[in-house]
Amino acid sequence: KAGLTTKYIGKNVVYEQSVSSTQEIAHRIASDGAEEGTVIVADEQLGGKGRLGRPWFSPIGSGIWMSLILKPKIPPQQAPQLTLLTAVAVIRGIKEQTGLHCDIKWPNDILLNGKKLVGILTEMQADPDQIHSVIIGIGINVNQDFFPEEIKEIATSLKIEKGEEINRASVMQSIMVQFEQLYELFLDEGFLPIKHMWEAHAITIGRRITARTITNSIQGYAKGITDDGVLLLEDDLGTIHKIYSADIEFNVT
Ligand code: BTN
Repeated sequence: KAGLTTKYIGKNVVYEQSVSSTQEIAHRIASDGAEEGTVIVADEQLGGKGRLGRPWFSPIGSGIWMSLILKPKIPPQQAPQLTLLTAVAVIRGIKEQTGLHCDIKWPNDILLNGKKLVGILTEMQADPDQIHSVIIGIGINVNQDFFPEEIKEIATSLKIEKGEEINRASVMQSIMVQFEQLYELFLDEGFLPIKHMWEAHAITIGRRITARTITNSIQGYAKGITDDGVLLLEDDLGTIHKIYSADIEFNVT
């Protein structure tokens, strides 16, 4: 793409019109030796994947549906940190192109005016002690004018919030530039500087929430995240729970 100033993120772009899921393609070409920084982007996904086995609505031409292949030399337990890093990169890219300020709902939802704008899905191919590749899926609602009935109360797009059509390629480029900067910082200095940036956008911390996991649901006060990006939730008995993955709901009271 013209104007892209990154060294390796997005230098290789595989563009498809219609795919089942860009995640599937990324997994396949990553195991076939695709280089770090390779991006798969599609105009439409017929089987877009969300977290926790949910579908991700990816209609033609209106969003950024992309997967990024990384091959970081970090322990597999640290891979979730890349999800938080991605959220910061996406927020910065969106701000740069549209002036809009987004918030992060732990771990990886990006909200605009309280509605979901971006979803991030991190998957990896790894042995217990070694990462082969991390596939970061990013779905951004850009130019939708409306959403299906089931999600219209909870989803939004850049166009809806900004009131004008947004150039998808420019947003994507900004995100890749931001991503590369943060990724290099992360590889050089670790997660701490990224954690601080993430916290500046996080709306989960300091609030009363319910965290629903597949097996149970815990209510309490979101105290913060650990250096690994794990959410610390204090229940009413004062017990601190480490939440690795859950759906978060804000409690009103
Ligand atoms: C979520 O549930 O919030 C995560 C949604 C991730 C969607 C993106 S769109 C590009 C990539 N390909 C997929 O099938 N999913 C991710």
